[in-house]
Amino acid sequence: MKTFRVFVTRKIPGQGIAMLKQRGYDVEVWSGNKSPSQKDIMQKATGADALLCLLTDKIDGEVMDAIGPQLKVISNYAVGLDNIALDEAKKRNIIVGNTPDVLTEAVAGHAVALILAIARRIVEADAFTRAGKYKGWEPELFLGAELQEKTLGILGCGRIGFEVAKKMFLAFGMRILYYDKNPRAEVEKACNAKYASIEELLQQSDVVSIHVPLLPETRHLIGEQQLKMMKPTSYLINTARGPVVNEKALLTALEQKWIAGAALDVFENEPAITSGLRRISNVVLTPHIASATFEARSKMSELAAKNIIDVLLGK
Ligand code: DGY
Repeated sequence: MKTFRVFVTRKIPGQGIAMLKQRGYDVEVWSGNKSPSQKDIMQKATGADALLCLLTDKIDGEVMDAIGPQLKVISNYAVGLDNIALDEAKKRNIIVGNTPDVLTEAVAGHAVALILAIARRIVEADAFTRAGKYKGWEPELFLGAELQEKTLGILGCGRIGFEVAKKMFLAFGMRILYYDKNPRAEVEKACNAKYASIEELLQQSDVVSIHVPLLPETRHLIGEQQLKMMKPTSYLINTARGPVVNEKALLTALEQKWIAGAALDVFENEPAITSGLRRISNVVLTPHIASATFEARSKMSELAAKNIIDVLLGK
């Protein structure tokens, strides 16, 4: 009987690797502590039946061909799939898997944390306190914004956007506007949410939280024109994909106070960050960690492995 070969592009929580090994597959995990280059993947994964990769690995047709015609499944350790050329995979009959659902709570939780962090100036205040600048209570020290009865605009209301809407509606009493390709009755029922066009959402929201996938039509969905539509008191939160926002335009918006602040977990050219963003105080920056909980990352590992096993079993 043929032993299936699986190449994993980075060490991930062990459960998934154990599942693959239990099946008797020949599993090789990239041993470097940095992601492999495309060339490394092409060399190391040659002959693999399955590739388990990360959102940082760009898997195009050339990589698929280098791995070989036996490649049956590409399992992405992420919910987003923009790093994989889906059309190229389809042409080659390669099935592509991702890890939806299991990271919804983690990513939504991080979006909520970022909303609170920017609105209540937590990071700025922490740096101030650590620097020994706190000399006593002051009536106007680090004034921030309350969220109750303010409007949260959810741009892209899939699983994660819906979860953020529910949390902010139930816990903070925010009013919810949402934009998606189509209205969603369950969102409106659960959060008393109102469907809005992108323009209406940007104009009326006090907090805009981005949850669209990166597609050709969502690249730079938020640029100068859209940032100028937002209120000068509003905040922009991005836990989705960096290129959805034109980062240079965002820097200008923050410097010139078109909007009050932003909190970003993802960047247009990550890991590079438009340098000006690091110098200004009205932005909170985290290094693409929205799904980084013990729970989510373990379940992602299991689901990424399950996706491979299912395909190799012919399911
Ligand atoms: C994903 O898995 O696509 C997300 O970027 C996690 O934050």
